[in-house]
Amino acid sequence: MQIKHNGSKASNTSNQSANPAFLRKPAKSRVYLLRNAASSDVEQLSELERGVFPSLWPPTNFAHEIKKDQQAVLVANLRSGRTETENPIQNTSLVERMVGGIKTLATQGNVAHHTGSRLAGWAIIWFVVGEAHIASIGVAEMDRRHGVGELLILGAIEAAAANDCDELTLEVRKSNDAAQALYKKYGFKVVGERKGYYVDDNEDALIMTTPDIREPQYAAKLARLAVDHSRRWEESGSRFQRA
Ligand SMILES: CC(C)(COP(=O)(O)OP(=O)(O)OC[C@H]1O[C@@H](n2cnc3c(N)ncnc32)[C@H](O)[C@@H]1OP(=O)(O)O)[C@@H](O)C(=O)NCCC(=O)NCCS
Repeated sequence: MQIKHNGSKASNTSNQSANPAFLRKPAKSRVYLLRNAASSDVEQLSELERGVFPSLWPPTNFAHEIKKDQQAVLVANLRSGRTETENPIQNTSLVERMVGGIKTLATQGNVAHHTGSRLAGWAIIWFVVGEAHIASIGVAEMDRRHGVGELLILGAIEAAAANDCDELTLEVRKSNDAAQALYKKYGFKVVGERKGYYVDDNEDALIMTTPDIREPQYAAKLARLAVDHSRRWEESGSRFQRA
């Protein structure tokens, strides 16, 4: 049976037409930390979700999601200042870790608590028999086009690999050009449709899936993307860290 999604439209989906890359906002120096969500994040996560999906009903029960087995809730935390206590993300090693199957942030449970920072984005990933399903992903409007969506997708792929998944899959609104562009960049392809999937307006969903993430060709693509992501933002003074 097809499960209908209770999701609402994203806050500004309508004006997220496919902008060329050169229209990306010039970034101020920002430091984003990718980490597992903690129960102390629940309130901020709910607030963030209300901003991104204003008419979503019922809202996600983040307290429950964080505690569940076989899933990961990742957050991107905008740090209030630079700290030297965590290592900048070594994106090449992300791929090495994936391919080598070394346990990563998704399984270590190494949650850091940071004050003086706010959440910029989140991703919920469910692991179901060899497949990772991105159940939800969003970035605060003020943080969009700063590489946070890519950071979350990279984290989701790493989490999928750490949980022995071969591919990632998701549903996306047919009209959501921005999200589709992000997924296509990371090798997701449209493999099907779900008619009337979104209950609020009956919009159709596209089903998008990655190739086998352990295939050498995909791993090489991912390595290039990860390096480009980190270099591009380094040039503008922004950095990505992991707990
Ligand atoms: C989709 C979303 C998560 C992207 O997050 P983001 O932090 O702005 O994305 P990034 O800055 O990392 O962009 C990465 C890539 O995504 C694509 N992209 C992001 N925003 C885009 C836009 N407005 N138009 C076209 N492409 C876009 C591009 O391919 C971009 O790569 P590029 O910079 O090389 O062109 C964000 O727009 C969002 O939260 N939207 C509302 C919620 C939502 O739609 N969630 C997905 C539900 S399935």
